[in-house]
Amino acid sequence: MAHSLFSLNRKVVISAPMAGYSDTIYRRFARKYGADLTFTEMISAEGFLRNGAKTLKLLHHSSDEEPIGAQFFSGNPDAVEFSARKVSSMGFSVFDINMGCPVRKVLKNGAGAALLKNLKWAEKIIKAAMCAPIPISIKIRSGFSSSEDEWENILKFLARAEKLGISFITIHPRTATQFFTGKANWKLIAEAVKILKIPVIASGDIFSIEDVVKVIELTDAAGVMIARGALSNFQLFRQAKKFFEGENPVNIEKISVAERGETMLEFIEEEIKYRGEERAIQWCRKFLVHLLTGFPGARQLRERMNKIEKFSTLEREVFKPLFEIL
Ligand SMILES: Cc1cc2nc3c(=O)[nH]c(=O)nc-3n(C[C@H](O)[C@H](O)[C@H](O)COP(=O)(O)O)c2cc1C
Repeated sequence: MAHSLFSLNRKVVISAPMAGYSDTIYRRFARKYGADLTFTEMISAEGFLRNGAKTLKLLHHSSDEEPIGAQFFSGNPDAVEFSARKVSSMGFSVFDINMGCPVRKVLKNGAGAALLKNLKWAEKIIKAAMCAPIPISIKIRSGFSSSEDEWENILKFLARAEKLGISFITIHPRTATQFFTGKANWKLIAEAVKILKIPVIASGDIFSIEDVVKVIELTDAAGVMIARGALSNFQLFRQAKKFFEGENPVNIEKISVAERGETMLEFIEEEIKYRGEERAIQWCRKFLVHLLTGFPGARQLRERMNKIEKFSTLEREVFKPLFEIL
């Protein structure tokens, strides 16, 4: 699949793995709105080895989310080998290894960004995944903490990972200790693009079509991976795709908050079918925060939204006034 994805003869748009966000409904919407590939949230390979029901739920998906990649985190090569093999027969097109998660729970198991501190071990993890018959990718940050020579070592590691046979690599150019502070250093992506033959995907601070244009101009990456920018703005995938299909960015239609709102209503309805009303409304609040921001009256709507538990109330007390304001 990675092969067919990158033989589209254009750059690609990927929907990012996002823990607690990129569920089955999110991925369906991402595809419908233009993402070429979607991703599960990160999944524990060790949890999968123990055959947790929770893991199977996270892996559950339908054909309208495909092509879909499964992302795993682990510091244990045996668990990675097991997961990569299993996932290959479950309809996934890519097995991605998380080398960027900075959360303590993940680091303490030697997984996520902890692999950046032990690149030899990271190679073992990659080798373990290579047993699978589907493409293997990795997603990394630019280092664990902020020293220049760390990035030099990571570049060398990426060249070795390429030799090991990975299909593509996504770079979020912030260090683990930065979490989400500062700006993503897109110049580092450009350096990786220059030295590698495999596709490099740019991630980090891509919030608008203008950002898509800028990051591609600066890096010439093979595509973009969009995370926070699509929360309550699925249309960004479509805009990016149009640009990659050759449309002049100045002619790409602007997306109004009202249009985003219409889509979010549909999204909530689908989440309700999936989770039930009460849990779906709670789940969707973290998305709606992104919709209800940046215009006069947004704060009041946000406050109201946080107290609502029923879809009909949400429609009447948040969406109706939203559409009237705009
Ligand atoms: C809420 C949230 C959850 C995330 N979960 C994951 C994850 O499970 N796996 C992963 O590789 N990255 C994860 N990320 C990182 C994103 O995939 C992405 O690399 C990062 O947010 C930078 O992109 P952005 O500026 O477009 O958000 C997460 C980010 C956010 C905001």
